[in-house]
Amino acid sequence: MPAEVPAVRELIDHAELRAGVARLGAELSAGYPGGVLLVAVLKGSVLFLADLVRAMTVPVEVDFLAISAYTPGTGRVRIVKDLQSDICGRDVVLVEDIVDTGLTVTYVLGELRRREPRSVEVCALLDKSVRRLVPVPLRFVGFALEDDFVLGYGLDFAERYRNLDRVVAGDLVALRNDPDVYVEDLFGR
Ligand code: IMP
Ligand code: MG
Repeated sequence: MPAEVPAVRELIDHAELRAGVARLGAELSAGYPGGVLLVAVLKGSVLFLADLVRAMTVPVEVDFLAISAYTPGTGRVRIVKDLQSDICGRDVVLVEDIVDTGLTVTYVLGELRRREPRSVEVCALLDKSVRRLVPVPLRFVGFALEDDFVLGYGLDFAERYRNLDRVVAGDLVALRNDPDVYVEDLFGR
């Protein structure tokens, strides 16, 4: 890593993540004693979802959506992989890795509501509320973040760093310049 590149900062270590996910699992279990359908948006939410379901003590079904990336600031996205389940009449929780501007969640919530679920709520591991462009009702939140670009536990930059077992903040300018800039530092050789 070149000397002028700011080092990554650890924001949430593995033990804190585990504790946060355990708390969310307990909250969801208390909120849906009869069970719930968790809908995760690929790919960032997969690690969180995998741990979350194991922290839950009620019947859980999972399903997945994939959407195209939007042009920043436009909020225009489309579904590239749809749900397999019919969610009409179901209690649904949208599971997200991070809510930043809120555009993605707003779009997906709109799609889900059109299908007339009995209820739909959002569970986000990370909440960057200072960056919000549209208000989003977040019923379940793991951790509040400042305005940092974060990596790890599912979150990537150019598909790197998802497999870190903790959440770190990286420098976006350095990452744009070299997506691998933190690989050696974080994963060694
Ligand atoms: P939105 O701005 O709330 O629509 O967030 C869109 C998507 O951007 C999220 O689902 C993430 O995939 C990604 N994203 C937002 N902030 C970060 C970050 O700090 N690190 C990695 N990905 C992010
Ligand atoms: Mg995402």
